[in-house]
Amino acid sequence: SLVSSTEMLKRARKEGYCIGAFNVHTMEMLQAVVEAAEEAESPLILQTTVGTVKHLGPEYVAAIAKVAAKSVQVPIALHLDHCHDYELIERCIQAGYTSVMIDASMHPFSQNVEQTKRVVELAHRSGVNVEAELGKVGGVEDELVVAEEDAVLADPTECEEFAVLTGVDTLAPAIGTAHGMYKGEPKIAFSRLEQIAGRVGVPLVLHGGSGIPEEQVKRAVALGMAKMNVATELRIAFSDAIKQVFGENPQENDPRTYMKRAKQAVKAIAQAKMAMCGCVGKA
Ligand code: 13P
Ligand code: ZN
Ligand code: NA
Repeated sequence: SLVSSTEMLKRARKEGYCIGAFNVHTMEMLQAVVEAAEEAESPLILQTTVGTVKHLGPEYVAAIAKVAAKSVQVPIALHLDHCHDYELIERCIQAGYTSVMIDASMHPFSQNVEQTKRVVELAHRSGVNVEAELGKVGGVEDELVVAEEDAVLADPTECEEFAVLTGVDTLAPAIGTAHGMYKGEPKIAFSRLEQIAGRVGVPLVLHGGSGIPEEQVKRAVALGMAKMNVATELRIAFSDAIKQVFGENPQENDPRTYMKRAKQAVKAIAQAKMAMCGCVGKA
């Protein structure tokens, strides 16, 4: 069955590796990352955005994830990404999500604390992991849009206070990464991350994982990032594979044919990310 992500992430931070958290939008994408994790003997976090939860329904997602968890040896957690809607968080927990993100980072500090605390109280009753965000991660992720000039780095003192005040299990401090692909390379504020990691003991979460070069991922992981979110690269791989099938054969009309290719493409990306996260063999 699905497990909470709390223990797997604590261990990852302690032992200095990172767990890949993959945003999936279809059953085939979910199956692709599950296969990758099983072959890599890696713990896995499956996650869905609010948009995907609304598109598929949390009960469908949870049902498929539960079947996946039963069919493999590696531990799997199911996480709700960037949610700002308390009722939806409640519904996902009821459906069987084992981890949720309350993203109130658009609000002032005190409001972010209050909203996160409320979700921590709710989630911990069911042993569900809670992630929150400080600062603002730039870029576009689903319904969440933050212009580059509006992105804000997390403040180390606020991070420390926030962790104490909320009792949050995992923290996503904005350190200069962004959702989507980068123009050139990301400018990660490593010294800022080091200061935050020095003051916050909970596992840290790296958002905007698509497009970050391997050396930078490894540096961030060495400084305390224990979960890396990957969304855009999976969607691109999935869509490009399908486009390629139709490019080769515009008459193609068997979903199994093009989904199979899409699945292989997603699996390859997931495998590469797990390798750079250092979570291979950690299940
Ligand atoms: P990318 O789309 O850059 O991989 O970011 C994913 C993410 O942070 C999901 O929360
Ligand atoms: Zn994110
Ligand atoms: Na990115």
